[in-house]
Formats: sequence, C-alpha cells, structure tokens
Amino acid sequence: MTTSLSILGSISREDFLRDYWQKKPLLIRQALPGFIPPLDIDELAGLALEETVESRIVMEQGSDGPWQAFNGPFEESFFETLPEENWTLLVQAVDHLLPEVGAVLQHFDFLPRWRMDDVMISYAPIGGSVGPHIDYYDVFLLQASGQRRWRLGQFCDESTPLLPNTRLKILTDFQANPEQDWVLEPGDLLYLPPQLAHWGTSLSEDCTTWSVGFRALSAEEALCGAADFIGERLREDQRYTDADLTLPRHTAEIDDAALERLQKLLQQVINSPAALSEWFGRAMTQTKYADQLIPQDTDWTTATLNELIEYAEATENLLAVSEGSRLAFRSAAEGQWLFADGEAWFYSASLQPWIEDLCRRFTFDTQFIKLALHNSESATLLLHLINQGSIYLLDEDAGDEQPLH
Ligand code: SIN
Ligand code: CO
Repeated sequence: MTTSLSILGSISREDFLRDYWQKKPLLIRQALPGFIPPLDIDELAGLALEETVESRIVMEQGSDGPWQAFNGPFEESFFETLPEENWTLLVQAVDHLLPEVGAVLQHFDFLPRWRMDDVMISYAPIGGSVGPHIDYYDVFLLQASGQRRWRLGQFCDESTPLLPNTRLKILTDFQANPEQDWVLEPGDLLYLPPQLAHWGTSLSEDCTTWSVGFRALSAEEALCGAADFIGERLREDQRYTDADLTLPRHTAEIDDAALERLQKLLQQVINSPAALSEWFGRAMTQTKYADQLIPQDTDWTTATLNELIEYAEATENLLAVSEGSRLAFRSAAEGQWLFADGEAWFYSASLQPWIEDLCRRFTFDTQFIKLALHNSESATLLLHLINQGSIYLLDEDAGDEQPLH
C-alpha cells in the first residue's frame, strides 16, 4: 500500500479506487486545510447574470409550490426578491470560466481527466437546499465556505418514487442513514458514488459548496453515438444474409436463426476496434457546451510559433489549455490518436512521449514549443489545437495565468 499526501487524506489513491470509487461514500475532514475560495458570493452571483453561463435558483417554498427551479441568466433585481433563507443558487462549469477554480482539478489526478464533467458552485443562505435527490454522476463535494449539513440515504434507481408537480427530481422517500449525517466545514470533502440519495442543507449565511462531477456515458448515449459514427462508415453491401436458410416452419415466423443472424451482423460491425476507439475518444473529449471553443480568426503557422518564442525566456509560459477543453490520447494495437474537444488526429508511435507530456500540462513554456517545432508532426498537432481554440495564447502583460478571452 502506498500512501501520499493528497486530497484523499490518509487514504491512498489505490485504496480509494478499490474500496470507495463508484461503491460507497467517503468523508475526508480537512482534505484541503485552509482552503480559501478564489471567488466570493457576489462574484458567483455576478456569473449568474451572464448570458453564456448556465445557472439555476432552487426554492424550497416557491410562490407556485414547493421545490421550484428558475433558470438563469438572472436580472440583478431578481436577487432582491429572494427571501432571507431557504434557497440555493447553482452555477455550472465555473472551472470553464476561471482558471483559479479549474486549478482544483489538479487534486483529482488519480482519476482519468476525460471522466470529469465540471465544477459546479452553489451558494445558499441558512436552510438552502436542493432537496433529497440522486445524481447519476460521481461527485466530490468540497465545502468552500460556511457550513453545510449532509445527510445520506439509500441507493436508488429510475423506479424510485419522485415528488410530483416539480421538475426537480426530489425523492418522496428519503431513508436517512443516521450514521451518515455530517456537518461539513471549509476544506472538508465528501465523495458520493452515483445513485446514492443525499440531502445537503446550509447551516450558515455564507455556505458555498463546490461539486466536482465525473460524468458517465449512459448505455443509450454509447449505443446511439457509436452507431451513428460507425454507421456512416459502413458499406451498402454489408447486410443481413441468410444463405443458411432452411424451410420455414411458418412463413410469418421470425425464428431463432433469424435473430442469431441479426446479432452476428451487429457484432461484426461493432467489433471494429479502430472505429470504436476513435468514436470513444471524440465523444469523451467533446466540449460541455456547443459554442465553447474560440478558434483563431486566422490560422497560426509554424512561423507564428517561431515569432512567439523568438525573444521569450525558456521557462516562460506562453500558451495554456483552454479552461474546459478536454484532451486525451489512445495508444493501442489499432492505432494512436490524440483527441481534443471532439476532434481526433493520428500520430506516430515515436511521438508518444511528447503526446503524454502535452496531455499532462496545463501551460506550455518556450522550451515545450521549441521541442514541438523540431518535429513537423508535433508542430502540426500543436497548431491544430491552437487553431481550433483548445490551446490559447496567454496574455503577456497580465501575467502567466490570465486568459485572453
Ligand atoms: C448543492 O451544492 O447544494 C447541491 C449539490 C448536490 O447535491 O449535488
Ligand atoms: Co447532488
């Protein structure tokens, strides 16, 4: 067993994955001791006014009945109409907006980065809650400020009864486990596996909670997505065949042999490792929001990169992965692909160390860019990422971590 200082406290990454991940909840007191959120409640509320930001307000006692949800963007005046207590503001994908929020993801390097969805931040005055519910995602709930009481319940599924007359999925029968009833203080972290009922209620005026969510593809998404992708590559002559047909018992009957032929056909087309690899990599790196990437107005070339590094210090960070961009690679018998934000490119096996370095980084210094320029393949890949907006130019005047957009 290896133990190391991490957000998991005294639990090693290996033990966490074996005993807790997707299996049972885990409370880690002081996972991030002294944690100070890089944005305050006013700044969070400010984000909820913006057109391009996904936000919600949930009220336990709305004017039209219990558990009402309102979608943002909100007018400033709407906040003034809210009661003193018992409501919650939720802002999605704050890591896509603020690199200092995205920085928290570095603590989760024991999980594949492409499983990560976003960091949602909630604010609630006393009594604020989104009700007892389940999520189909794994979630790490980091208490950022104030106190929140978390009560955990039973594992649920699609058949678990929900409250009528609200579009929120509130459980009618929350079976609180008295042993899993905790008050979280700033810096505490609670991991919840999918489908475990939970209910968080603010105990203070300044309760903010960060939800680091890990998405999981539904079987429907996998089947439909892969079928669409592979379907486009199939030939007209790939069809149901029944050269083995024997005299039917009844001319209207679809017999077992027919079903077996169908299954064989489907298995044949789905059994394409290269197509599945490419589709999965593209799907897992798809951006959360459709219009998220900001491509270059005019494509960069190697000349642009050479110009950029000409007078820069070796260690100066010049480029950064766009907040919310998803990079992944697959190196397998059927091929090597670099994936970024839904796009895929082949690469040669000799480029593997460079690809791994690229996918580990958040920023790129002069040295990295120089190395990329030594090889036309890595230079081309880097340019693809810059030109489609997955990597952007840091603002020299504003310091390393400030994005240009
Ligand atoms: C919250 O932060 O209030 C809700 C988070 C959750 O239960 O998933
Ligand atoms: Co939840």
